[in-house]
Amino acid sequence: MSKKPWDGRFSEKTDRTVESFTSSIAFDRRLYLYDIEGSIAHCRMLAEQSIITQEDASQIIEGLGRIARDIERGEFELDESFEDIHMNIEARLTAEIGKVAQKLHTARSRNDQVVLDVRMYLRDEVTRILEGLTGLCQVLVDLAESHVDVIMPGYTHLQPAQPVLFSHHLMAYYEMFKRDRARFKGTLQRINVMPLGSAALAGTTYPIDVEHTAKLLAFPEVSANSLDAVSSRDFIMEFLATASICMVHMSRLSEELVLWSSAEFGFVEIPDAFATGSSIMPQKKNPDVPELVRGKAGRVFGNLIALLTVMKGLPLSYNRDMQEDKEPLFDTVDTLKGCIDVYAKLLPQLQVNRTAMQEAASKGYLNATDMADYLVTKGTAFRDAHHCVGEVVRYAMDQNKELQALSLNELKKFSQAFEKDVFEILTIEQVINRRVSAGGTAKKNVVAAIKEAKKTLKVEAAENEPDEGKENTPS
Ligand code: ARG
Repeated sequence: MSKKPWDGRFSEKTDRTVESFTSSIAFDRRLYLYDIEGSIAHCRMLAEQSIITQEDASQIIEGLGRIARDIERGEFELDESFEDIHMNIEARLTAEIGKVAQKLHTARSRNDQVVLDVRMYLRDEVTRILEGLTGLCQVLVDLAESHVDVIMPGYTHLQPAQPVLFSHHLMAYYEMFKRDRARFKGTLQRINVMPLGSAALAGTTYPIDVEHTAKLLAFPEVSANSLDAVSSRDFIMEFLATASICMVHMSRLSEELVLWSSAEFGFVEIPDAFATGSSIMPQKKNPDVPELVRGKAGRVFGNLIALLTVMKGLPLSYNRDMQEDKEPLFDTVDTLKGCIDVYAKLLPQLQVNRTAMQEAASKGYLNATDMADYLVTKGTAFRDAHHCVGEVVRYAMDQNKELQALSLNELKKFSQAFEKDVFEILTIEQVINRRVSAGGTAKKNVVAAIKEAKKTLKVEAAENEPDEGKENTPS
C-alpha cells in the first residue's frame, strides 16, 4: 500500500477495497504522455516565474523525460495503489529524483491537471478523426466518380420512388460526413483551452503565468474562470454528441450496405475480405462489418448519455463523479476511429452491380412523377395531372406493362394532352438528367458536386498536414 499525498490529515490507511474501487489507472494510463508534457510545461513556467529554481526544474524535467521513455518501453509498472496516472507519475518521479519532485505540484491540483491532460489527449484524437473523415470522404467521392453513371432506384419509405444516380446517393453521405467534420472542427476549438492555473477550484496565490504555460503547450486560449475550468466537461459531451451524430451517418450507410448486399437487392457485393461466413450454412456470406458498425452506434450513443447523466446533477466545482468521463470518452474515440478506418478500406473494394441497380430502377413506375410533370407543361394543373397519371399507373399495372410501353392511343384515353413527345421524357436517363434543380440528381449536377468535393478535399488534406505551429507529445 502506498503512502498517500493527503495522509497528513488521516489517521487510518485507505481500505484496499476503496483503493481498487477509486482507482482509474487501468484506463487513465493512456493519458501518460500528456500528463508528462503538461507537467514539463508547468515546471518550466514555475521556474521562469522564480516559483521554483531553474536547478530544481531541470532535475524534474529530466526525471519526467526518463519516465516517459520507461513507460514507452514498458519498463514502468503502473501501481493501482497510486490511484491514477497523475499520482503514479509523481510517485515515480519522487523515487527517481527524490524530494525535489514534490515541488512540481506547486500551484497545481489534480483537478486542473486531469482536465488539461484530457484536453490535450482529445485535441490529438480529434485531429486524427478529422484526418480519418477526410479520408472517408475521399473514398466516397472516388467511388461516386468511378460509378458516376450508375442508375439506381431512389427510395422514400423504403419504397422505390424515383431513379437517382448511385453517385448522387454516395455524395449524400459525403455531405453528411463533411458536416460531421465541420462539427468536429468546431468542437476542437472548445477543447483547445488551457485550464492549468485554476488549481483545485479557485485559482492560486502563486505568481503564475498561464499565458506562458498555454504557449508552451500550444493552446490558443486560456480558461477564463477557475470553477468552470475544473468542473466543466461540456467539451467532452460535445465531442460525444458529435461522434454520435457521425455514428448515425455511419449506421445509416451500414444499413444500406446490409440491404443492398442481400440476395433480394443484389445491388452490391461486399468484398470477401470484409465479409464472414456462417458456421452452419455453407452458402452464406454475411455483411458483419456493416452490421457491427451499425451496432456500435449503440455504444457511442450510450457513452453520450452516460456522461450527460454523470454531469447533470453535479454542484460546482470538481466532484469525483467526473472520473467517470474517461471510459465513455476513450471507448467512443476507439469505436469511431475503428469504424472510419474499416469503411475507408471496405468502400473502395465494394463491388457494384450496375445491371441489378438499373433494372430495379427501370420497373415499378419510377417515372410516374415525370409523366405528371409532362401533363403540367401541357397546361394541366398538377393535382389533376397527379390523379390522371395515378389512373394510368393502375391501368399499366393491370396490363403488366411499364408506362413507356403503353401506346399513345392508350395514354390519350386518360388525357388528350398526351403527345408522342411524352416518350422522350419517360426514359430513365431523361428522368435523371432533367432533374437539374440545385442539388438534384442530374448527371451534370453530380459531376459538378464531385468536382467541388475534390477541391474541398484537397484543401482539407492540406489542413490535415502537420502542423499549424502545434507542438505535439514529447518524443
Ligand atoms: N482521477 C481523477 C479524475 O479523473 C483525477 C482528479 C482527482 N481529483 C481529486 N480531487 N480527487 O477525475
